[in-house]
Amino acid sequence: MIQRKKSGGDGAGIAQAVDEEVGIQIENSLRPHVLSEYIGQDKIKKNLNLAMEAARGRGEPLEHILLHGPAGLGKTTLGNLIAREMGAAIRVTSGPALEKQGDLAALLTNLEKGDVLFIDEIHRLRAPVQEVLYTAMEDFGIDMILGKGPGARSVRLNIPPFTLIGATTKMSLLTAPLRDRFGTIFKFDFYTNEDIKKILLRSSKILHCAIEDGAADLLSVSCRQTPRVANRLLRRARDFAHVHGEANCITSHTIGETLKMLGVDALGLDEMDRTILKTIIRSFNGGPVGLNTLSSAFPEEEATIEDIYEPYLLQIGFLERTPRGRKTTHRAYRHLGMENPQLI
Ligand code: ADE
Repeated sequence: MIQRKKSGGDGAGIAQAVDEEVGIQIENSLRPHVLSEYIGQDKIKKNLNLAMEAARGRGEPLEHILLHGPAGLGKTTLGNLIAREMGAAIRVTSGPALEKQGDLAALLTNLEKGDVLFIDEIHRLRAPVQEVLYTAMEDFGIDMILGKGPGARSVRLNIPPFTLIGATTKMSLLTAPLRDRFGTIFKFDFYTNEDIKKILLRSSKILHCAIEDGAADLLSVSCRQTPRVANRLLRRARDFAHVHGEANCITSHTIGETLKMLGVDALGLDEMDRTILKTIIRSFNGGPVGLNTLSSAFPEEEATIEDIYEPYLLQIGFLERTPRGRKTTHRAYRHLGMENPQLI
């Protein structure tokens, strides 16, 4: 028998990478370019506008800012907007990318006065790298050790005043000394459905694809209260409308079919969310169950469950965090159409 070689191992990989790249480019084009276009997070914007006006008036850089909250809520977007509003250049890096002290030192010594240094996933900075950051944040300096052995000496290298913007999804993992060096700490909230609808309407204009008002209402409740998810589902609905010849307009029918195709339900839960809840209910009697034990039932890493799925399930009150682990709530049973034995 002639075995045919499966085609496209690498080809498929490349195609997927290209798809993702295009997705990222479109996602970037949907990001607001001025703070006044940024929808939601009103408390943060109000405080930020005041701080920026004051700093501009004094001709000083902004104090260091820490942004924390679940993924996809717009921390990076806001970081870019802050730099733009301050007329500053921005350098973007992440905690895991800064492996050695020298990596951070190289970045810091190339900054110019007023520049913004954005460090994503700042909770993942290694301890020795954090040490360098402390002095840079506090005294705008880096201590370098010159030479070795008994003759070694420390010299202080001055760096220009800059603003550090740190972003994290895991505030609890930030060390106290690092946290205390930020002048302002902003917590991102999940968006209201009204704000998600505004984001959908704005994005549909940029994508040159109309969306009916009722369709935007319908979609807005299935976006996990998260702009990144909203923009992704909007792009999928646009694909559906184009392929199924629904002219250049997304209707309620388009939304219904798109969500069905993606396995996303009316509250924005996907197959994995439902499996997580059902596993807690069926295998752990509704919990409490430790995250570690729970994640052993899935191929996904513990961090994926904790960072991507859990925050929204907690937000909508389907999961509860207790000292002994995660528990499903009666709401979750009701949504899944399952009987809650505790109520029988
Ligand atoms: N796109 C993604 N996040 C947004 C936001 N907060 N406001 C407007 N457009 C967005």
